[in-house]
Amino acid sequence: MIRVIRVKNKQEIAEKAFEIMHQIVTNKPDCTLGLATGSSPIGLYELMIKDHKENGTSYKDVTTFNLDEYVGLPKSHPESYFSFMHRNLFSGLDVREENIHIPSSEGDLEDRCREYNEALAENVIDLQVLGIGSNGHIGFNEPDTPFDSVTHIVDLKESTIKDNARFFDNDISKVPTQAITMGISNVMAARKIMLLANGENKANAIRATVMGVVDEKVPASILQEHPDVVIIIDEEAASSLYKEKR
Ligand code: GLP
Repeated sequence: MIRVIRVKNKQEIAEKAFEIMHQIVTNKPDCTLGLATGSSPIGLYELMIKDHKENGTSYKDVTTFNLDEYVGLPKSHPESYFSFMHRNLFSGLDVREENIHIPSSEGDLEDRCREYNEALAENVIDLQVLGIGSNGHIGFNEPDTPFDSVTHIVDLKESTIKDNARFFDNDISKVPTQAITMGISNVMAARKIMLLANGENKANAIRATVMGVVDEKVPASILQEHPDVVIIIDEEAASSLYKEKR
């Protein structure tokens, strides 16, 4: 079941998301968190760091699993998701390095997928944070990814490459064309899912996710079949909801 929380702006998305995150981490200090990259969760991550510093909320027993990673960028590249997560979250918290899992795209990719699935199978994610692509992708599960997929290698769609070019000097040729991503069934295995989105360019994807037919063409539409999903969006991302399509 999807519960939609509509708020005014990005700051309020971060505050609401933090409230939910904080409750999970304080109720269960050894919880497992599923984490996402992209601009949508950055405000949440800032509040987690602020709270850790000011109030001492500890993540020392928390285990984390990230959704995805580019193929073809070394870990040390500033736009690798490994770098993103350390820069925007882990450097400000006390999560133990050995409890951090980010898919690796180094070496044999089939082996990396198998290992990630094995690690996920040993942990149930208590709270999965998600963003959404403008084409409805979650993680890097692009349209037409089977709902029963597990961690796999994907060819990124043209629209995703264009969307992400902003992180690569707006130069499409610099954007990796492949990624390793947790599959949709890995995401659906989480106890609770929290999807964050803001801005007009997410409005159609949000509408299709919440009100559309559950179809592999819109990966996020499968969330309708999960028992506990909360979608926190600003007014712009909510602007196509509950209106007749023009
Ligand atoms: C990338 C990530 C997704 C993320 C999406 C949206 O494609 N792989 O996990 O949800 O970007 O990013 P943003 O939050 O910047 O709009």
